[in-house]
Amino acid sequence: MIRVAVLGAGRIGQIHAANVAANPLAKLVAVADPFPAAGKALAEKLNCDYSESPDEVIARSDVDAVVIGTPSDTHAELMLKAARAGKAVLCEKPVDNDLAKADEAIAELNALNAKVMMAFNRRFDPSNIELRRAIDAGDIGDVRQVIISSRDPGLPPRDYVAHSGGIFRDMAIHDFDMARFLLGEEPVEVYAKASRVVDPALMEEFNDYDTLMVIMQTESGKQCHINCCREASYGYDQRFEILGSKGMLQNDNLRPSTVRRFNAVETEARQPLLNFFLQRYTDAYRNELGAFLTALTDGTPLPTSPWDGRQALRLAEAAIESVATGRAVKV
Ligand SMILES: NC(=O)c1ccc[n+]([C@@H]2O[C@H](COP(=O)([O-])OP(=O)(O)OC[C@H]3O[C@@H](n4cnc5c(N)ncnc54)[C@H](O)[C@@H]3O)[C@@H](O)[C@H]2O)c1
Repeated sequence: MIRVAVLGAGRIGQIHAANVAANPLAKLVAVADPFPAAGKALAEKLNCDYSESPDEVIARSDVDAVVIGTPSDTHAELMLKAARAGKAVLCEKPVDNDLAKADEAIAELNALNAKVMMAFNRRFDPSNIELRRAIDAGDIGDVRQVIISSRDPGLPPRDYVAHSGGIFRDMAIHDFDMARFLLGEEPVEVYAKASRVVDPALMEEFNDYDTLMVIMQTESGKQCHINCCREASYGYDQRFEILGSKGMLQNDNLRPSTVRRFNAVETEARQPLLNFFLQRYTDAYRNELGAFLTALTDGTPLPTSPWDGRQALRLAEAAIESVATGRAVKV
């Protein structure tokens, strides 16, 4: 039984805490959040301890592992505190908002031989697992191009935008990771464009963007295109297409049912897409936590590492540089 504490009781912390509480390999010991309204309510709901202080929870001798679901600019510091205290860590993306800080943290985590997994949940989605399996099985031959469409239903709250690190580090980071996961090679060149068309005033205020396109290429010539927008009026849109030498793989969005409606004004009408990440990636979050706990229990390697977080962040930084300079950036 792995005794787990969850840091952060916001949108993602609530999912992780519920998954820990439901997993037979784990016991949810505590939730920490400096804001009692969120933290206390979650702890009461899941019948565990509550603390305002993540440090206090990390120091507890009856905690073996922590799940970090706090704002992105706190990840590196909390990972290090937990690792220094000998705890295993499942940390939300990104590894940090700052590449130099991430590199420093990773050097210390490696020196500590810390068990740290990055929470790139999309790798654990059943359809995305199937994409990777089909590539590995040779179903489409050699991968040539990966096309990723990733659109949110709407802008995140203002406070979230303020701490997010910007659309490349916050939102597209998932897509940079999926690009690496599906290409099977590191991109070596990145070109990006970004614009403010959803909420120009808010984006201007935080020097952020709400709409982007990225083109990347690996050393051997494999290509990836990513398009992201913070707003899609029809819902959370998550699609992948992979072109190979012997075929193509596609995965589509999920809906609450497979029913299609036909009538005098429309045909092939279907229910709306699942609303947002909490609904679309329910299985992925559960599988991700399961993979973390199973690896700790069996003593096998964790499936993702802070290095994966660092490489995705490096691509995000290259894309930001490309937007600023108007040129492709070598990675
Ligand atoms: N993998 C995913 O699909 C996914 C989805 C959403 C968010 N995230 C990531 O999770 C993190 C949190 O995002 P969110 O949407 O849950 O944000 P949120 O604002 O809803 O929640 C963050 C919570 O952390 C608390 N907090 C702040 N500082 C803390 C600290 N030092 N210790 C403990 N708690 C602290 C806040 O009070 C808040 O309750 C972000 O880094 C984000 O990138 C990942």
